[in-house]
Amino acid sequence: MCGIIGKIGLGAPRFVISGLKTLEYRGYDSSGIAVALGDAVFVQKGVGTIDRVVYSVPNGVAAIGHTRWATHGGVTDFNAHPHLDCSGQYAVVHNGIIENHGELRGELVRRGHVFSSETDSEVIVHLFEEGVQKYGDGVEALRYVLSRIRGQYAFAILSRDGRVYVARKGAPLLVAKGKDGVYVSSDPVPLVGVADEVYRLADGSYAVLSPDGVQIFGEYVPVPRVDARRVELGSHRHYMEKEIFEQPRAVKDTLDYLRRENVRWELDGRIHLVAAGTSYHAALYGEYLLRKRGYDAQAFIASEYEYWKGKEPDYVIAISQSGETEDVLSILRNLDGPEVYAITNTPGSTIEEYSDHVVYTRAGPEVGVAATKTYTTQLTVLAHLFSDANLSELPGFVGDVLESSAPIARTYAKVLSRKNSAYFLGRGLDVVTAKEGALKLKEIAYIHAEAYPAGESKHGPIALIESGFPVFFTASKNMLSEIEGNVQEMRARGAEIVMVTDGETELADVLFSVPNVDTELFPILSVPPWQLIAYYTAVERGVNPDRPRNLAKSVTVK
Ligand code: AGP
Repeated sequence: MCGIIGKIGLGAPRFVISGLKTLEYRGYDSSGIAVALGDAVFVQKGVGTIDRVVYSVPNGVAAIGHTRWATHGGVTDFNAHPHLDCSGQYAVVHNGIIENHGELRGELVRRGHVFSSETDSEVIVHLFEEGVQKYGDGVEALRYVLSRIRGQYAFAILSRDGRVYVARKGAPLLVAKGKDGVYVSSDPVPLVGVADEVYRLADGSYAVLSPDGVQIFGEYVPVPRVDARRVELGSHRHYMEKEIFEQPRAVKDTLDYLRRENVRWELDGRIHLVAAGTSYHAALYGEYLLRKRGYDAQAFIASEYEYWKGKEPDYVIAISQSGETEDVLSILRNLDGPEVYAITNTPGSTIEEYSDHVVYTRAGPEVGVAATKTYTTQLTVLAHLFSDANLSELPGFVGDVLESSAPIARTYAKVLSRKNSAYFLGRGLDVVTAKEGALKLKEIAYIHAEAYPAGESKHGPIALIESGFPVFFTASKNMLSEIEGNVQEMRARGAEIVMVTDGETELADVLFSVPNVDTELFPILSVPPWQLIAYYTAVERGVNPDRPRNLAKSVTVK
């Protein structure tokens, strides 16, 4: 989704350009930069990669930048941010949605303002221009803007004199101080290694950044610093590869933290788990463990929650690696009654604001768009909370799985890269891994993949099976006999059988054997082979797995 970055201080434009590149992982279609020149604001922006769009930028004491993932207004040069006011003295970058932009635009046009984009965002800078004219003061002008706009936003307005006015409501925004200047960012990653103090503005708070520092109006919380080594690519070709292979460490750090903090949840009523994408698969895992123990628990895709939720729960468990997924946050924002427990990988993220209790996965920042280490650590947290299985050997086992699976996955990727479609099947808890395997293959390698309970094959999907059709089975040892019939049906029609199991089998053409574990832990060991297959297949197909098309790392709009 959209990203905001800004600095006041030495080398501000240079920092903003490198910050924009760091933000690339979030997904974007256009980008741009604004620099304060004293008498005016310089803007360079357009559709395409940062290197293409931002090529010759003057120096200045302050700069802001933006990566845009289009929502309101097509992907055009004009719609790229920053947007200037009529006088060319102010520029805005904005994430979120201004709901009453139509009405405001009408008003502003009647008062003589000229718009140069179709975006909802541009009203902000014209309102700010009016505010300065009215009150002769930047902070008052900012208050005027905030009193007029409705919706969710995080924005930064750069003034020609080098001040930056920022505000947030419902979309993330951080302000920070370092020895070389002050910063604003929608994401903690560009601040790693430069900022000494980072603060997340609370919803409704605003701030002014100047060469003298940061003045915050309203509430804010300090955000823990991230170790710079955690976001270095090192010898890996892609972040996705790095993050897959980091899983033994990530699982270990998460377990150490859970034990050290003695994390326990006492729940004894109706429980709803809400999440999106990969985190929803973790929610399904949580539902399975809770139901096994007799709880009334149900997992929901966050964007569907309001249609399906039924009777109010007593507890909501919200799972989001970024802690910024709007589909999840909008549920929490509107809750009145249930106690909220959150699992996130991002300390200082917005989910904390809406939760009564927060537990962290200790995966470290995940830069690749595909969730990998954040998923296995979410499962680790849920297993720690709700399973009786012994988790102590998990990190070592995950390492063993990666070591033995990588060469098989790399070889099989050459075959899979020429296919158009695949099924991921399992039964019981293994359906969760099947779903996650299919999602990874789709989003990273662009191969159509569908996951469903193996028993459903005969009710329709088997119609697609023909010679060479890849079918990926996830089968814990006690499910091997259950899926044998499904495998044979597929094989009889020419399907290629790829399987991950912790049991003994001769059912597969390509086999990933993982250590024999408690069935409830098998999902933590069965998913890495599917992550590796998706990764190597993307590489084989020449797709950059870190930046899959149309996707964003953190989905901050509904
Ligand atoms: C996972 O690979 C995806 N990129 C995506 O489905 C992701 O899990 C989803 O958008 C939820 O994100 P969150 O965990 O940050 O809430």
